[in-house]
Amino acid sequence: MKYDFDKIIDRKNSNCLKWDTVEEGVLPMWVADMDFAIADPILMALKKRLEHPVFGYGITPGNYYDIAAKWVERRHGFKPEEQWFSHCPGVVPGLHFLAQCMVKPGDRIIMLTPVYYPFFEAAQRNGIGVSASQLIYRNQRYEIDFDDFEKKAKEPEVKMFYFCSPHNPGGRLWTREEIERLGMICIENGIIIVSDEIHSDLLMPGERHIVTASVSREISDNSITFIAPSKTFNLAGLQTSLIMIPNPSLKDIFDRFIARLGIKRPNVFGISALMASYEYGDEWLDQLLIYLKNNVECVKEYLSEHIPEAKMMIPQAGYLVWIDFSGLKLDPKEFHEALLKTGKIWLDEGYMFGEPGYGFERINVACPRSVLIDGLKRIKKTIDYLRK
Ligand SMILES: Cc1ncc(COP(=O)(O)O)c(C=O)c1O
Repeated sequence: MKYDFDKIIDRKNSNCLKWDTVEEGVLPMWVADMDFAIADPILMALKKRLEHPVFGYGITPGNYYDIAAKWVERRHGFKPEEQWFSHCPGVVPGLHFLAQCMVKPGDRIIMLTPVYYPFFEAAQRNGIGVSASQLIYRNQRYEIDFDDFEKKAKEPEVKMFYFCSPHNPGGRLWTREEIERLGMICIENGIIIVSDEIHSDLLMPGERHIVTASVSREISDNSITFIAPSKTFNLAGLQTSLIMIPNPSLKDIFDRFIARLGIKRPNVFGISALMASYEYGDEWLDQLLIYLKNNVECVKEYLSEHIPEAKMMIPQAGYLVWIDFSGLKLDPKEFHEALLKTGKIWLDEGYMFGEPGYGFERINVACPRSVLIDGLKRIKKTIDYLRK
């Protein structure tokens, strides 16, 4: 079956964070939420569940985690063990839970910045400090400054590492060697690695993601990993994700914490959607990935033709494009405000991702190509206006 990603779907008045919070006429291209209809097998599974007219408490069926493990094996060549998994009502909630149950106020979480801003919020809202190790920006690509990371990892307050793999906002995939080196530094310094792999299924054709827990037994034992169908299949509103914790002692801490919060029960629609995604979603996903790659190409061509001062990172994974506008020599704050007011486009402002993000903007390209082109024209219009 051929899916139509060019189709424009009106998402207004659907209690939608992306489209129901913008002023009339503004194009939202900030939050990581796709404007595409979900895959048919997922829709069918949800319809089937809806036809059963009772919506009492849910459970995860016996084959639930096996289906998830097989998905990871099929897509990434590594099979997690079923007993590693627990249900989690979202990755961002999970990051907040870990900041509450794995570390204590006064401790610090190390992160490679710029990074997905809820990482900072999850720490800081829970009285945990942030230790930022800045990525090196070289040739429109990020690299890890291992010396700096190691120096910061040695500080005794640093107890956990929030690792964004693949990287958001840069879209970089980390190599096995890089993950191993980070992992060993963490182990040597008693730091738990939390690997957020929510973007890992969204690989540009030909790319490969390395699951942190697959790198070595030692690293696996010291790791906590998030995966989810929510980003891959656009199901974030169902609040269903998975956490994998191979080390039984760490898993016990997490599971007991969730029990203490009284939020153990999964959402019945989330269960059906996750199972249908991981069992039958491959065909839709493979088509989506080609469409996304072409959208990324479209941004690249547009920028080189119309805004050559803007330098984008080519994502290896995900549908978020990180663009360096510093070559325009505009004040980043004024530029961002003008994008919203004049261009009528809402992007994510770079500095939110940490200091090294200053001068960047992040654009979500998971939309029909005609909408993407409209968005790019709005950026160009803003620049023309500011230069007048
Ligand atoms: C790296 C990363 N983690 C987590 C999330 C959100 O996860 P959830 O919707 O499951 O809370 C996002 C969404 O953009 C993300 O980019």
